[in-house]
Amino acid sequence: MSDEKQQQAKSKKDDWQTPEWLWKTIDRNDEIDLDPCPGVDTEIGNHNIDPRHHDGLDYPWEGTVFVNPPYSEKADWLEKVVEETKRNTVDTIYVITPDSTDVGSWWHKWIAPHASHTIFFEHRVKFVKPETGEQAGNPPGGTALHIFGKVPHRVIEAFQNGERGVDVVTRASRFD
Ligand SMILES: C[S@@+](CC[C@H](N)C(=O)[O-])C[C@H]1O[C@@H](n2cnc3c(N)ncnc32)[C@H](O)[C@@H]1O
Repeated sequence: MSDEKQQQAKSKKDDWQTPEWLWKTIDRNDEIDLDPCPGVDTEIGNHNIDPRHHDGLDYPWEGTVFVNPPYSEKADWLEKVVEETKRNTVDTIYVITPDSTDVGSWWHKWIAPHASHTIFFEHRVKFVKPETGEQAGNPPGGTALHIFGKVPHRVIEAFQNGERGVDVVTRASRFD
């Protein structure tokens, strides 16, 4: 693949949206306050800040936050997640990444030492193409959902008991 085509493929995947079943499992009672990288036409987050004028990496986050970062910039977003988790106006930050735990550069630095809880899905999570609203095909690898900060019992139970069977791994949990 040419460099230009590789760049196009990468930037397209950077925009892929979270499937509704996944974020709605968390947001059953409208809990998500902020999606700092919302993209266009997403319904996630009650108090989002316009990404056309504000870089989600540049302002302080608050409340319950949901982050499905552009995967080609994961490290920057994960560094921000860890920094924001320490802020006492932040309760919980949910973060989606590939489940590639062998990748030393970001997993070992930002997730293993800092995430309270990780959920590994037992199936491939199919994301949504923003330009058509259609489901994209099977991604090449699995997906993990990490919880930083307080871990709400309800959300863990919802994923455990849901139709979408998941494997849940608790690390150093701080349950609320
Ligand atoms: C993987 S998509 C996720 C979209 C949506 N949050 C979701 O979960 O469905 C990442 C989005 O982040 C946006 N984005 C990239 N860099 C950003 C930045 N610095 N600030 C705000 N948004 C950004 C992109 O435009 C893209 O729509």
